[in-house]
Parts: sequence; structure tokens; C-alpha cells
Amino acid sequence: MKKIFLIFFLVTFLFSNIFAAETLTTIMNRKSVRSYERGKIDKKDIDTILQAGFAAPSARDTRPWEFVVIDNYKKMDALAEKLPYAKMLKEASIAIIVCGKADPNNFWITDCSAATENILLAVEDLGLGGVWTAVYPDNNKIDAVRKELNIPNEYIPLNVIPIGKPKGEFSAKNKYDKNKIHINKW
Ligand SMILES: Cc1cc2nc3c(=O)[nH]c(=O)nc-3n(C[C@H](O)[C@H](O)[C@H](O)COP(=O)(O)O)c2cc1C
Repeated sequence: MKKIFLIFFLVTFLFSNIFAAETLTTIMNRKSVRSYERGKIDKKDIDTILQAGFAAPSARDTRPWEFVVIDNYKKMDALAEKLPYAKMLKEASIAIIVCGKADPNNFWITDCSAATENILLAVEDLGLGGVWTAVYPDNNKIDAVRKELNIPNEYIPLNVIPIGKPKGEFSAKNKYDKNKIHINKW
């Protein structure tokens, strides 16, 4: 009995460490990818990416997010025309638009930002590439995206995330800066 318990403990310990290492590797390897080879992305992968978005923390667990998934190339091309800093949409396989329900009592921007980072990490983990392209707080971009995608007025598109199979090699920057760390006081 003792032996079984010990084996169980060792296996659990080993696996939890392997997964922790994988999570950190994904976080450290995440980078903005702006060039893709257009092609179909597995529905299973799209689901995983969305599940990661939904798994984000939110203030008082209000979950003020909605996700618009675009897999129609014509729609992505049309959006690219309206968003000068999201031209890579023309190469993307899908795009996810993270929208928040704006309410003075909620933290929609921070909550939707957490969901966005989760999405970007899932994209990295699946060997895909993506980038956060800004919509909010530019009113012209908000109106353009709302109009193109039929987003109701009470929702604000925070960003557009083009996603695709990376074309070329990309690597994460090392942004660690010990000068920005303050221990106990600034
Ligand atoms: C709020 C926000 C807005 C951004 N907007 C754009 C954008 O419109 N177009 C773009 O190509 N990248 C955009 N980015 C990506 C940043 O340029 C990128 O994260 C930054 O250069 C750091 O590079 P890294 O993501 O590879 O670490 C945005 C990122 C954030 C967080």
C-alpha cells in the first residue's frame, strides 16, 4: 500500500512539474507574429483558443467578454482595409475580436485584456501565430469594426487578433529588466 502511495506521489509530482515548465515556456516564447500562410485551422484548435479566453480571471467574476470569430477571408480582407495597423489580416486564417460589455461598474478593459493574453498564449502553445491589434480606444476603429461585424452598441471591440500558421521564423524578445523591480519599496 505504502509503495503504491509513493509511486502515485512521484508521478503526480513529476507531471505537475512538467506542466508547470511547459506553461512557463509558452509564456516566455509568446511573441507577436504578423505574417502567416493562409490555410484551414482545426476546429479543435479554435475551440481550445476560445476556451483559454473564457478561462481568464475577471473582476467579481463578471466575465464581460464576447468573442467574434471570423473564418471568412473576404471579411478579414474588408477589416484589413479599415484597420491600417492590422494589414496582416489579409494573410490570417482566422481572426478573433474580443469585445467587452462596457459598464461603469465593471472592469471590462482589464478583464478583456486578460482574456486576450490567454488567447495569445493558447495560440503560441498550439504552434500558431497571432498578434493583438488595437481597436479600442480609437472611435473610428470601434465604429468600423462594429459596423463590419454587426456588434451591438453596448459592446466595445477591444482588439482584433489575426491568427494563422506563422510564415517564417519568429522569436520572443527578452524583456526582463531588473531595473524595473522594486523590493519592499520603490
Ligand atoms: C494594447 C496593444 C495594442 C497593440 N496594437 C497593435 C497593432 O495595432 N498592430 C500591431 O501590429 N501590433 C500591435 N500590438 C502588438 C505590440 O506591438 C507588441 O506586443 C509589442 O511590440 C511587443 O512585442 P511582442 O508581442 O512580440 O512581445 C499591440 C499590443 C498591445 C498590448
